[in-house]
Amino acid sequence: MKDKLNKIEEVALQEAAGAVSEIELQQIRARYLGKKGEITAVMKGMGQLSAEERPLVGALANQVKDRLEEAFAKRQVALRKELMHQKLATERIDVTLPGRRQMPGSKHPITQVTEEIVEIFAALGFGVAEGPEIEKDFYNFEALNIPRDHPARDMQDTFYVSEDIVLRTHTSPVQIRTMLKHQPPVRVVAPGTVYRRDSDLTHSPMFHQIEGFLVDKKVTFGDLKGILTTFVNQCFGKNIDVRFRPSFFPFTEPSAEVDIQCVICGGSGCRVCSQTGWLEILGSGMIDPEVFKSVDYDPEVYSGFAFGMGIERIAMLKYGVNDLRLFFENDMRFLRQF
Ligand code: DAH
Repeated sequence: MKDKLNKIEEVALQEAAGAVSEIELQQIRARYLGKKGEITAVMKGMGQLSAEERPLVGALANQVKDRLEEAFAKRQVALRKELMHQKLATERIDVTLPGRRQMPGSKHPITQVTEEIVEIFAALGFGVAEGPEIEKDFYNFEALNIPRDHPARDMQDTFYVSEDIVLRTHTSPVQIRTMLKHQPPVRVVAPGTVYRRDSDLTHSPMFHQIEGFLVDKKVTFGDLKGILTTFVNQCFGKNIDVRFRPSFFPFTEPSAEVDIQCVICGGSGCRVCSQTGWLEILGSGMIDPEVFKSVDYDPEVYSGFAFGMGIERIAMLKYGVNDLRLFFENDMRFLRQF
């Protein structure tokens, strides 16, 4: 019995020393010290021994068990250390490698200018409204006093979806939609995308406008001049000259176009302003009584003014960009400058 125990110990110690993983070590341990293990079996079989042999074998079995437990525990610690060294060697991090750069996005210059313009008008008490880009003829033309035979309705200028539906050619239909929903006083700007069949250095089939209008009792042309002059000074600078030039729009009467002193030459005359010293930036006027009639406002009680401008044009003048197409090509070298 003694020999058997010594033999078991010898083999178990060899196996433990040869274990290459903790799992393997646990399996070996179970084979010797587990419930059905070899040492356990020896202890269970001691009942058959003689009274003299029993305490000797019992003591030896306990010693062997203790030595094996200790050996397994030591081997486990050693295996863990080995694993750690292995990991440190293979999973080393090279802290000198350059990091992966985050590329944060930024707002498109047209979005930036739109927000700037909206903010200027918000400070003057204007709210913001929006309308659909696919628009009914009624809102885009009819209600704005643009009759059936008006040249703006020509197939040359307008994208028709069907006989009655167009891609809106301007943001002015938002005036009609807003006035049909709200009673005066109203004071709103409406930025958005518009479409025209036009494409060259200064025209794009898709571009952006911002519309604005104000309706209340006793609104005068003086209010129009005051608000728009304030806008120009906030957008282009305090010292810039502004002039109001008579013009015509079907939905305003009287109408005026607003020019600013040329931002390139300062008014002395250059190629950009065609030697005039002035740059046109927007259309405006007192809202025509015909428009009020189509939204059921009483023109005897209310008056108002409206204006509309091209956002790309404002952005070109503000930043000195000489080709409209740069805004749509989205070349990162261009966009990064804003
Ligand atoms: N809708 C005009 C256009 O697209 C711009 C415009 C001019 C809007 C005068 C207005 C206005 O509200 O009063 O050319």
